[in-house]
Amino acid sequence: MDIQKIRQDFPILSRTVYGRPLIYLDNAATTQKPRCVVEAISEEYYSVNANVHRGVHFLSQQATDLHEAAREAVRRFIHARSTSEIVFTRGTTESINLVAGSFGEAFLQEGDEIIVSEMEHHSNIVPWQLLQERKGVKLRVIPISDSGELDLQAFASMLSGRTRLVSIAHVSNVLGTVNPVADIVRLAHEAGARVLVDGAQSTPHIPVDMQALDADFYAFSGHKLYGPTGIGVLYGKEELLRQLPPYQGGGEMIKHVRFSGTDYEDPPLRFEAGTPDYIGTHALARALDYVGQIGLDRIADYEHRLLAYATERLSAIPGLRIFGRAPQKSAVLSFLVGDIHPFDTGTLLDRLGIAVRTGHHCAQPLMDRYGISGTVRASFAFYNTTEEIDTLAEGIERIRKMF
Ligand code: ALA
Repeated sequence: MDIQKIRQDFPILSRTVYGRPLIYLDNAATTQKPRCVVEAISEEYYSVNANVHRGVHFLSQQATDLHEAAREAVRRFIHARSTSEIVFTRGTTESINLVAGSFGEAFLQEGDEIIVSEMEHHSNIVPWQLLQERKGVKLRVIPISDSGELDLQAFASMLSGRTRLVSIAHVSNVLGTVNPVADIVRLAHEAGARVLVDGAQSTPHIPVDMQALDADFYAFSGHKLYGPTGIGVLYGKEELLRQLPPYQGGGEMIKHVRFSGTDYEDPPLRFEAGTPDYIGTHALARALDYVGQIGLDRIADYEHRLLAYATERLSAIPGLRIFGRAPQKSAVLSFLVGDIHPFDTGTLLDRLGIAVRTGHHCAQPLMDRYGISGTVRASFAFYNTTEEIDTLAEGIERIRKMF
C-alpha cells in the first residue's frame, strides 16, 4: 500500500492544527473522507437531485437508480443474500433502536432475556434498558477478563430457553477486542436465540460476510467507513425482516393506506419511512467502492502492523497502562499515563496537533469494570503512519515529564 498516495486522497490530512501537521488518531469516532466521497455528494446535488421512489420524471428515476445501486453496493460489501436485507438507517444507533423497537415490540415479553456484554457501547445498552422499562424484559451481561476478552463459558451458562436475543459488539470501541462472533452466533442459535451484531467498529477494519457469519441482524455506520455522516445500515435476514412490524410510519413504507387499516411495504422499504438520505447512500456506495479498491484484507494487515508498532512504542513509556490486551485486536489503543487525567493528556496532545479521544467513550459500564473514569484512545486508519505514532509516543513522553 502506498500510504503517501492514499493520504493525498484525504485533503484534511494536509491541514495544520496549532501550526503543526494534523495527526488524526480518532478514527473510531469518525474517519476522514476521501475526495471521491465528498465529490459524490456535490455531484448528486448539482446534477441529479430529486426525491427517490416517488416520481416518473427523469431526475427522480436517476436518483432512485443511484439509491438502489447503493443498496446493492452495501449488499456486496457485506455479502448479504439479497438487497431486501439491507435497510438504510441514520447509523448503528438507529439500527439497534430499530431492532429494539420492532423485533422487541413484536417478539419479546416480560421475563424474556437479552444478553449483552460488559464492553458494549451505550447504544447497545440503553435501547434494551428502554425496552426493559416498556416490556419487563431482563438484561443479562457477559463479563470480560482483565485483558478485555469475553468470558465465553459464562456466556454459554447464561443461555437458556428464556434467551431471545444476544446483542454484541463485533469489535470493542474502547478495547479493540475482536469478539468471536461466529461462536456466539452458533451458541445462541443452538439455544434458539437471535443475534444482533454491532458492526460499527468492525466494518471499517475487517471483511465481514453475512452469509458466513449467519447473524440475524448486523448494524453499522457510514461515517466510520469513510462515508458521510447520518447514513448507516441495518442488515437483517429476509425471512426475519418479513415478520417484523414497522418501526416508524410515514410515506413509502406502505402498500395501501385506508382509514380502516394500512398494508405495509415489504422489507426493506417497510423500515424506511420518509424521504431517505439518498445523497448519503450514494456517497456511502462511493466510500465502499474506495475501501474495496484498497481491499479490506490489505487494510486489516496494514492496520495490524500499525497497532503492533503503537503497542510496542507506548508500552515502553514508564507508567503507561494499556486497556485491552486481547490477542485478537483491531486498531484501537486505550491507555492511561500514570495518574494523569485523560482530559489533560488529550488536551496537551491536541496542542501538538494530535487528535485522540478522551473520556468514557460511551462505555461507562466498561469503565466501571476497570475502576477508572476514562481513558485516552488512539484509533488508527489505513492513512496513519508509524511516523505519526512516533510523534504520539514522543508527545506522551513530554506530557509524562511535565507532570
Ligand atoms: N462510537 C464512537 C466512538 O467510540 C463515537 O468514538
